[in-house]
Amino acid sequence: MREIHVLEDPSAAVAERLTEVAAAGGDIVLTGGSTPRKAYALAAQRDADWSNATVWFSDERMVPPDHPDSNFAMAAGALLSHLSRPPTVIRMQGELGADAAAGAYEAHLRERMGSDPHFDLILLGVGPDSHTASLFPGKPELEETGRFAAPVPLAGMEPQVPRVTLTFPVLNGAREVVFLVSGADKADAIARAFGDPPDPEAPASHVRPTAGSLYVFLDEPAAARL
Ligand code: 6PG
Repeated sequence: MREIHVLEDPSAAVAERLTEVAAAGGDIVLTGGSTPRKAYALAAQRDADWSNATVWFSDERMVPPDHPDSNFAMAAGALLSHLSRPPTVIRMQGELGADAAAGAYEAHLRERMGSDPHFDLILLGVGPDSHTASLFPGKPELEETGRFAAPVPLAGMEPQVPRVTLTFPVLNGAREVVFLVSGADKADAIARAFGDPPDPEAPASHVRPTAGSLYVFLDEPAAARL
């Protein structure tokens, strides 16, 4: 199933979905960047019971977990630290460096999710270059078929620090992928990722869950060129 929803406040819809899957004890992948902050804050206000859920991350910048560029720090500050019944959180360890952090995450994934992981919900954003997670245009990580978590030595945009990212095999194994994208500066990227036909050079165009659902939540400016 694939649905594109253009909404005045797509963050509210995403907060609702996050809350539902968390309360059902799901395995949830959060993402970074600035767009999800509002959805996280709205989900925090609901203060559902997340104690049976497990929170993972789509990608991380190789900085310590309290650094302003840390995706974990953003999610913790906006959501996780506010929950009275918090989930298990498995973060990518930016302080280890990309190779070691990717290896550690791969091990956690295989231990807890097995060799064919199916996340209940993966939240993703899209950058102006149509990257998603830390899968940047033209980079070798796009071709990864074996590993679930890959080191990204050269990020495609700011902050220019190495990253770790989940790979397409994991993203496309999800039961549900939710994109949350807003703003006119993303309109081209959205048209390339979800237009008809999509642009194969746009990394986000390759996120198409094999057996799961794809929901794209956009505001009007981001949807302007669809
Ligand atoms: C990251 C992200 C990344 C993000 C997009 C959109 O670590 O940067 O996980 O994929 O979702 O870059 O970011 P914005 O919401 O800040 O535009």
